[in-house]
Amino acid sequence: MAGCSLRHDRLVSGARLSAANRSACFDAGGRRRQDRVGRGEAIYREYCQSCHGTPKAPFRTAGETSKVGQVTPIDSVKTDRRRLDTYTPELARAQGSLYAGYPADADSAECREYVEDVCRPIQTEEDVQRFRKLRAQCYPARFQHFRKTNGYSNMPLDGLWLRAPYLHNGSVPTLRALLDPQPMRPPVLYIGYDVYDFDNVGFVTAGPDAEKRGWRLDTSVPGNGNGGHEGREYGTELGRDDKDALVEYLKGF
Ligand code: HEC
Repeated sequence: MAGCSLRHDRLVSGARLSAANRSACFDAGGRRRQDRVGRGEAIYREYCQSCHGTPKAPFRTAGETSKVGQVTPIDSVKTDRRRLDTYTPELARAQGSLYAGYPADADSAECREYVEDVCRPIQTEEDVQRFRKLRAQCYPARFQHFRKTNGYSNMPLDGLWLRAPYLHNGSVPTLRALLDPQPMRPPVLYIGYDVYDFDNVGFVTAGPDAEKRGWRLDTSVPGNGNGGHEGREYGTELGRDDKDALVEYLKGF
């Protein structure tokens, strides 16, 4: 496992520096096998691109067939569902009451009722429509778009190398581990140790130094589960060489 300490001030300073560091650390540092990148790109296009975006920067640009920004149902992605389950319709609605600001129409009876009723459970589609209308009327500056869904969304993979550990709950340490089925993914991670694993793409989360410096994340704790994003369409059934090639390609994001 190759180790290289990154400058912490650079780690936290965003996507522009992420790109500069990436080419310095991977390409100039000879840590990207250029002869494998072409094969990796072909695999990405076949397996990953439809959900995660276009192959060329900016990756956030959704191609015509891209499902970036759409939600993959939990029954398909099967990652840990605790975050999804704790995000209730009531919470989504309460987020619409953040940043109280100044009510535009505070004295009307309707708006007073809206303020009093903000945590009342929503039962019907009419309730939803009424709530939205009143929120727009009474608090025009508030959040409007939080909503309950049945899964996790397909995000672009820009700056991917610095986003480890992966998945919404940070339960998978490296890209290489994400391409393995759950039983092969590390069950315990020490996160927060800033030595980088250039082969597998992610931070070093095991070994005495990581244990000393990092924070212990146990994936058997509810909410920390490291399963899901598995099966043929998620790339975990690819052969070893193909997984390695895909990781080489993803180093360039
Ligand atoms: C059917 C849609 C779909 C396909 C196909 C798919 N993914 Fe994903 N991917 C998702 C969703 C949804 C998540 C978020 C899951 C979560 O966080 O629990 C995700 C998460 C990820 C993450 C974690 C991102 C982060 O910042 O933590 C990576 C990396 C990733 N996918 C890579 C891939 C690769 C590589 C492939 C192709 C082999 C692929 N995905 C195929 C839907 C998909």
